[in-house]
Amino acid sequence: MRILMVCLGNICRSPLAEGIMAAKIARDDLDWYVDSAGTGSWHIGARPDSRSIAVAKAHGIDISRQRGRQLSHSDLEDFDLVLAMDDSNYENILALASDEAQRKKVHLVLGFAAPSDHEIVPDPYWNDDGFEHVFQLLDEACEHIVAKYKEQ
Ligand code: 4NP
Repeated sequence: MRILMVCLGNICRSPLAEGIMAAKIARDDLDWYVDSAGTGSWHIGARPDSRSIAVAKAHGIDISRQRGRQLSHSDLEDFDLVLAMDDSNYENILALASDEAQRKKVHLVLGFAAPSDHEIVPDPYWNDDGFEHVFQLLDEACEHIVAKYKEQ
């Protein structure tokens, strides 16, 4: 299983999603790969936002070595699942897909593997209080994704 987590900047939400999923992959000794990317180009090569690094660290996860990169068309070939944080990410990913097989890989990360009370992962960039909430939403979603695909 190759999973790509996608948000807008690749500095707040998708680095957390990558780190959370990587921790579960290691915990369960899964032969999976996870990466993250942004639909935008502003933060190519940048470290995750310091607030994302801090909230991950508070949960025992080190995301400080990640670097921002932009989503590319080849990602839709290379990954099995391309998971969007919000509707805007979702539409931007789909715009890069060239056929139905690629479009079928694209989902909103919340509600994909199991029903969720939330539909989108809110962008915490402008909200200092939002990062723990984002962590909890993504942690639950990643747990459901592991449970859904673990035995396949
Ligand atoms: P992210 O958050 O998509 O979760 O990484 C954002 C980070 C930066 C910007 C927007 C969203 N920005 O406009 O620079």
